[in-house]
Amino acid sequence: MDAAAGRRRRMARMDLTLSPEQIATFHQQGWIALDRIIDADEVAQLREIYDRIFRERIGWEDGAMYDLGGKEDGGPPVLPQIMRPSRYVPELLACSYRRNAAAIARQLYPDTDDNIGDHMIYKPPGYGAPTPWHQDQAYHNAKVFHKGLNFWMPLDDATVENGCLHFVNGSHRLDVLPHHPIGNDPSIVGLEVDEPERWHAQGVAAPVPAGGCTIHAAYCLHYATPNRSERPRRAYILTTHCPTTPRPVPVNDYWNHSKQEPRRERERLKKAVVG
Ligand code: NI
Repeated sequence: MDAAAGRRRRMARMDLTLSPEQIATFHQQGWIALDRIIDADEVAQLREIYDRIFRERIGWEDGAMYDLGGKEDGGPPVLPQIMRPSRYVPELLACSYRRNAAAIARQLYPDTDDNIGDHMIYKPPGYGAPTPWHQDQAYHNAKVFHKGLNFWMPLDDATVENGCLHFVNGSHRLDVLPHHPIGNDPSIVGLEVDEPERWHAQGVAAPVPAGGCTIHAAYCLHYATPNRSERPRRAYILTTHCPTTPRPVPVNDYWNHSKQEPRRERERLKKAVVG
């Protein structure tokens, strides 16, 4: 039996059907956790790709990789993130993670479309910064209502010690709350909700094993602890989307209008060079 056939057989046994209880829990609390969305072979393959991306800082010169959590002052990034890594490493488009996430998304939101976004957030061992409390839509188009899912899959067992996600149950029913750049520094990409202590007190930790995932709804407040461990915390995130609807009044996302991010300058220079 060749390896690919064995792999197909094992994948065939992975049941991606959510139970009625899981679906009800998702709609009630705004998130769920799954122990497994891909098999161990694919976790191992993705770790190799992931490590290469961050070792070679792929996308840095384009502004697609940047420090989400700290000031870019020449030191090692405390929370490196790459947007759309599949643009640089097309083999990511073929992984079963994408197919499995799409299959699960349609069970939670039948109107899920075919667009899948991807990004990776790495928390280095020892100094990986916290990902502050935020709603993903604080970053997004303020003129529409979003509906979609965020699949957050660690390639290492994610624990409170190394940076698993935390959620506020029921917060997916909120609209976009006021946010500010981390440390009120407009050069830092990451956003934090105002009055984060209030939400922190309500946070629920969601540890998941490598190759498992959490799935959260648009607008659900989330946070990840810093990496205080000696292990990396590698997360590969996919987003699935439903059609957006226009808002009668756009969100007043003033926190996005004062940004002065070095990644934008890198992006501009790269585009100028390429023409
Ligand atoms: Ni987020």
